Amino acid sequence: MTVTIFVPRDSTALALGANETAAAIEREAKARGIDIKLVRNGSRGMFWLEPLVEVATDAGRIGFGPIEEHEVAGLFDAGFTTGGSHPKALGLTEEIPYLKKQERLQFVRVGITDPVSLEDYLAHDGYVGLKKAIAMEPAAIVQEVTDSGLRGRGGAAFPTGIKWKTVLGAEAAQKYIACNADEGDSGTFSDRMVMEDDPFMLIEGMTIAGLAVKATEGYIYVRSEYPHSIANLNEAIVAANAAGYLGENILGSGRTFNLQVRKAAGAYVCGEETAMLESIEGKRGMVRAKPPLPALQGLFGQPTVINNVISLSAVPLILSRGAEFYKNYGMGRSRGTLPMQLAGNLKYGGLVEKAFGVTLRELLYDFGGGSESGRPIRAVQVGGPLGAYMPESLFDTPFDYEAFAAVASTVGHGGLVAFDDTVDMAKQARYAMHFCAEESCGKCTPCRIGSTRGVEVMDKIIANQNRPQQIHLLRDLCDVMVTGSLCAMGNMTPFPVLSALNHFPEDFGDQKTLANAA
Ligand SMILES: Cc1cc2nc3c(=O)[nH]c(=O)nc-3n(C[C@H](O)[C@H](O)[C@H](O)COP(=O)(O)O)c2cc1C
Ligand code: SF4
Repeated sequence: MTVTIFVPRDSTALALGANETAAAIEREAKARGIDIKLVRNGSRGMFWLEPLVEVATDAGRIGFGPIEEHEVAGLFDAGFTTGGSHPKALGLTEEIPYLKKQERLQFVRVGITDPVSLEDYLAHDGYVGLKKAIAMEPAAIVQEVTDSGLRGRGGAAFPTGIKWKTVLGAEAAQKYIACNADEGDSGTFSDRMVMEDDPFMLIEGMTIAGLAVKATEGYIYVRSEYPHSIANLNEAIVAANAAGYLGENILGSGRTFNLQVRKAAGAYVCGEETAMLESIEGKRGMVRAKPPLPALQGLFGQPTVINNVISLSAVPLILSRGAEFYKNYGMGRSRGTLPMQLAGNLKYGGLVEKAFGVTLRELLYDFGGGSESGRPIRAVQVGGPLGAYMPESLFDTPFDYEAFAAVASTVGHGGLVAFDDTVDMAKQARYAMHFCAEESCGKCTPCRIGSTRGVEVMDKIIANQNRPQQIHLLRDLCDVMVTGSLCAMGNMTPFPVLSALNHFPEDFGDQKTLANAA
């Protein structure tokens, strides 16, 4: 009997030796005359267990992990292919609480299937959404996405359906779909996991977007540090073209959608949507002034839908299960689920897909297991390098765009980076200004000059030079950056700075200093 064994091919697993583990499994099986089928699946997103080896059984997949190359012979000795027990046995993978407590709607195939196998994708409800969309009028597809309540997962949380409606309504011979896969936020990896571990989902989502707005060309702008994403996407695009899911005459419908991958230029600001367009066009990634909106004059001056990987790859699910199904998850105006990414000083880092409404505390403790160092968690930065630092007193904030905005924070792309009580928040505030100075595109003065002056001011605060005046100056500078910058890079850099100052004033001097600065 052939035993099916799974060893992930996701970069996290590869970084932890998954290829060596997989090769050892093949070697051992051959040497022992055991007939195996080795599947290189994606990651389940429980990174502390990688490389996670799974064995298919009648009851479901049994997990063992983390398994390093040198442990493979021991696994075979223990008879892991026939239900033998082993110290690293985890039982049924689906029953591991970290996975079981999630609401995996969008990541339902991630870690299950072979990412580049179209056959596997189809066997797991792939392309159901596209088949429905093909039978619909473009406006009806747009309406379905609007009704689902989907908001952009790249950071700005703009309603996706409204963006699509603008592009559909624009008259032009050529329209584009541009997928923002630059994923520059610290501690984020959900885009990467989609592209590496379920690339057909993104391809299907973009194809549906093309049908919805009558765009025939699409680009995926992928972070240059993601070589496995680029390779898997390209492989999946070739397979989808060959099988008639992409290209000319999609599934015999007479409709066309062509897709290509572009390797990003390697700057944080290239993730800003207009800088991304410049970069795709082959120019330096400089932010464009708006208007015109990219929905009307975007890529090569034509109407363009720009969406994040997670936004676009939510679309097949919305079409296949219906807007109503998707909308039933979440709270307030934040509908559906969000793949949150747990990183920083946490025991159990990884991917957690939950409906909006889950609190920061649940994510940090019920999923993340508290800090890896065992010390109290003092601060969490949510939403990337431009996100606020949230203190313990805000850990009960539910994940909801409006609830986060009410406490001067942002959900962003759903990344959480945790810090224990050894963190120096004044240094973190300095880092935010330094990051902006390094990454600013330089087009507008408040961001270009303000961030450099901000680093200088922070240096003086840290060195205890005229602290009251310098803190006053820092607040003034933040005001100018928020109100005067051209894009969110400069607008939002004050978020981490001011949150550090407001929530952790003790790191900026004593009470008297701060009172004098007010
Ligand atoms: C400096 C900067 C970097 C950004 N980086 C990204 C990114 O890496 N990925 C992304 O999807 N959006 C990023 N954004 C947001 C995009 O400008 C844009 O809002 C998003 O791609 C729109 O897609 P959505 O509506 O699906 O979220 C960034 C914005 C700024 C200001
Ligand atoms: S805010 Fe910064 S990144 Fe944005 S346009 Fe101005 S200089 Fe460029």
